[in-house]
Amino acid sequence: MLIRPRRLRTNPIIREMVAETRLSKDMLVYPYFVVDGRNIKNPIAAMPGIYHFSKDTLLTDVAEGLKIGINKILLFGVGEQKTNDASSSYNPQSIVADAVRALKTEFGNRIFIITDVCTCAYTTHGQCGILDNNDDVDNDKTIEVLAKMALSHAKAGADMIAPSDMMDGRILKIRNTLDQNQFKNIGIMSYSIKFASAYYGPFRDAADSCPGTKDRKTYQMDFRNPLETLREAQLDEQEGADILMVKPALAYLDVIKVLRQNTNLPVACYNVSGEYAMVKVAAGAGLIDEKSIVLENMYAFARAGANIIITYHARDVASWL
Ligand code: PBG
Ligand code: ZN
Repeated sequence: MLIRPRRLRTNPIIREMVAETRLSKDMLVYPYFVVDGRNIKNPIAAMPGIYHFSKDTLLTDVAEGLKIGINKILLFGVGEQKTNDASSSYNPQSIVADAVRALKTEFGNRIFIITDVCTCAYTTHGQCGILDNNDDVDNDKTIEVLAKMALSHAKAGADMIAPSDMMDGRILKIRNTLDQNQFKNIGIMSYSIKFASAYYGPFRDAADSCPGTKDRKTYQMDFRNPLETLREAQLDEQEGADILMVKPALAYLDVIKVLRQNTNLPVACYNVSGEYAMVKVAAGAGLIDEKSIVLENMYAFARAGANIIITYHARDVASWL
């Protein structure tokens, strides 16, 4: 007798039945870049298929997404008034707060809105924090600003806050601020394991948040350090994070898998701009089949243990599933 594992692959029905990894629309989060102004839908050159939206065109696009089941979005504001103290980031009339109010007025609880919390799109220097006198990021001053920003988003109606800055203690600071202001049910999705990565290149054009000549290695993580990832994740968990995120995703499947084995919280991964751009450019050049490659990548995230996938491909994936 020959043992024949292939028996379970002999037709599509049996392959579906024994599939070990499932992918569903419920796992997908779609990011948006929001700018000031009206009637704007400008393509972002480095990210084919992704746009800068003003509040009005955003409403139209979200309505389209809802029709195919995209009901979880992540909002990034692209700041115009940049200052050293990032004060426009926590203004009650900020781009993001305005967009959240407009979305909630239009769609109410049909849309789940996660807002990015970080200073880099609102500072003149483009760093994810407030600088001290030596031009180094001042951790403790920064988390004060982040908490104000998170609170302004919650007041506008955001459902969940996603701090992407990588300062120490920011989850606790934001949690306490939300709790003290009657926002006990507003969750925090923490960018817990965020590496200093060249895969963010296209995003920095999109969000107009390039840190100039300085890099972000004093706060983002060193990709050689898997043990350090667990220390960061454990602290975020203790500080009250509701969801832990790994970012980028494709080059860090091992990190997603180890995190999944070491926490009982939901694990998210962020399939970032550079990963997206590589696929889009290769597909555009006819070198790969876009749908097959994208689905293969999505299944890789799910197989590694991601429960939530933040991806610029979300709209396409939802239409294919
Ligand atoms: C900045 C931020 C970045 C991303 C999300 N928030 C870039 C960075 O840290 O340099 C990257 C997202 C992407 O590349 O798609 N706080
Ligand atoms: Zn930032």
